[in-house]
Amino acid sequence: MGQLRVGMVGYAFMGAAHSQAWRTVNHAFDLPLSAQMTVVCGRNESSVAAAAAKLGWSEHTTDWRSVIDRDDIDLVDICTPGDTHAEIALAALAAGKHVLCEKPLANTVAEAQEMAQAAAQAQTRGVRAMCGFNYRRVPAVTFMRQLIESGRIGTIRHVRAVYLQDWIVDPEFPLVWRLRKDVAGSGALGDIGAHIVDLTQYVTGQRIGSVSALTETFVKERPLPGESAGLSASGNGGGTGQVTVDDAALFLARLDGGAVATYEATRFATGRKNGLRVEINGSAGSVAFDFERMNELEFYDATLPATEQGFTRILITEPEHTYMAAWWPAGHPIGYEHSFTHEVRDLIEAIDTGADPAPSFADALQVQLVLDAVERSAASGSWTDVETALVTAG
Ligand SMILES: NC(=O)c1ccc[n+]([C@@H]2O[C@H](COP(=O)([O-])OP(=O)(O)OC[C@H]3O[C@@H](n4cnc5c(N)ncnc54)[C@H](O)[C@@H]3O)[C@@H](O)[C@H]2O)c1
Repeated sequence: MGQLRVGMVGYAFMGAAHSQAWRTVNHAFDLPLSAQMTVVCGRNESSVAAAAAKLGWSEHTTDWRSVIDRDDIDLVDICTPGDTHAEIALAALAAGKHVLCEKPLANTVAEAQEMAQAAAQAQTRGVRAMCGFNYRRVPAVTFMRQLIESGRIGTIRHVRAVYLQDWIVDPEFPLVWRLRKDVAGSGALGDIGAHIVDLTQYVTGQRIGSVSALTETFVKERPLPGESAGLSASGNGGGTGQVTVDDAALFLARLDGGAVATYEATRFATGRKNGLRVEINGSAGSVAFDFERMNELEFYDATLPATEQGFTRILITEPEHTYMAAWWPAGHPIGYEHSFTHEVRDLIEAIDTGADPAPSFADALQVQLVLDAVERSAASGSWTDVETALVTAG
């Protein structure tokens, strides 16, 4: 069996999730390539050494460029904040490495455009690039798309999507990197709003054409963090700093297939930890997904006799459900981490067969264009068209 030798940059939240995926994927799925966890990169020598040992990487380094310079690395997995994505991905693609890059693809449309262009050019040399919108790979979401695609809910009228968190409700929560525009690009919008933009466009097959948005930053100044530790940092760095991103982003949208939509992404939904919910209403039925019950899908079939209609709770654990045959007997649920295993499984298959993995960098650029339209609409107070971008391999 051939090998896929991986170098991963960043080893915290997403680094741990991706490590779990690379560790597991060949044990769960029969694949043509064997993933090798060759090297992990971080900035602090002792921390990255400890992470390598804990997460299962053979080697560690503090210089991501050294990962890209190595001949024995086939794929670079980018699990760092958004301000680093473009530089690392462009260098990796130029060196002929396949790339998996966490979402959102970049911090700006210009960066995302450059990355999508580079990926299109690399593709002509057999190099693959994919963006990590992992919620697409939750089997219930995949099944939602299949139901919609096969016409089971008819013509889509409404898309209703929320992504609700509450981890910064406390005004004393420190100014971690996710609250700084220079590092994160945007706040709730790019961090979690990007997921529901991608997910809803994926399941409906429709793209957002225009938006009317508002954004809000409720707490504008926060204590500076001590040692930054992602979502669980404590504020003991001394002094305060300005929050430069949105705490919440809400928008209406028109989709190009005729559906209308509402989106809400917030970090101030007190009590909601990771509340990703999507409901789609069509002329012949409805489907609804709630990540807190990620092994289920609600389906309403309006073609049944009125006496039999009602929302059906479908347990998405049958071996016929995409990805599920690799796991447990029917009725035995899977979890968050499996979405990442499915992500790298699909990427490995695409690399082996020479297919283009999805979401491509061009797909992720389109999400970035939606985020950009939301920010422009919030600033102007007007309905705003999502711009289109031309990505060519030439
Ligand atoms: N798919 C998802 O559901 C999901 C969830 C969370 C985060 N993300 C995305 O993943 C990315 C990382 O987020 P996270 O939550 O893992 O952040 P995190 O703060 O937990 O980890 C970031 C990691 O990047 C490292 N890092 C930062 N700058 C670096 C540099 N210049 N060189 C080497 N390493 C560097 C840090 O040391 C740390 O290991 C972001 O793009 C974020 O939007 C995706």
